[in-house]
Amino acid sequence: MNSLSCRRLTKSDYDRIVNVIDSWWGGPTTALAHPLFFYELGELAQVVESQGQLVGFLFGFIAPKGPTGYVHLVGIDPEFRRQQVGSLLYLAFEQACREAACPSMKALTAVGDASSVHFHESLGWTTETREDYAGPGRARHVFVKALEPAKAAAAQ
Ligand SMILES: CC(C)(COP(=O)(O)OP(=O)(O)OC[C@H]1O[C@@H](n2cnc3c(N)ncnc32)[C@H](O)[C@@H]1OP(=O)(O)O)[C@@H](O)C(=O)NCCC(=O)NCCS
Repeated sequence: MNSLSCRRLTKSDYDRIVNVIDSWWGGPTTALAHPLFFYELGELAQVVESQGQLVGFLFGFIAPKGPTGYVHLVGIDPEFRRQQVGSLLYLAFEQACREAACPSMKALTAVGDASSVHFHESLGWTTETREDYAGPGRARHVFVKALEPAKAAAAQ
């Protein structure tokens, strides 16, 4: 059985991601892995490993408005898709957002990316398609998930 482990992203993980991201996406995507998401906003960034091999990553951070748990980018090695790697990353990020008292989370994807829509909806996110969201003629699917506040310990 494939054993997966999730942990915080390091600089060597970041370097590996920059090298593989275009092939994982099937096209130029490196610009999305801007160093900002490691150096300035990387505290909640996570990776998943399978037997020591990096097989998925999530760049996410807490945006001040809300505050909102914002997933900037998630990527899974094509050889490891549909094996719950993305779910593991999202659930770890969701837990961190609950602990930070975020009432909701948000993510975007390009219109037409059906796998991303299915993935988010399978994890309880809702999808809204917004015209011109990323500029004129640049519609986006906007995903949102409301979070229950973390339960306080029951008073004795
Ligand atoms: C979208 C992506 C992150 C999903 O990651 P994953 O590890 O394959 O997802 P999981 O295995 O956790 O899938 C959980 C559920 O999501 C749904 N799902 C995931 N990928 C799907 C697909 N291609 N088609 C339909 N449903 C899908 C399924 O319901 C799945 O459960 P199941 O396999 O038991 O049926 C991954 O395909 C990916 O990296 N894609 C390229 C990058 C990308 O599109 N990122 C998102 C926008 S930034």
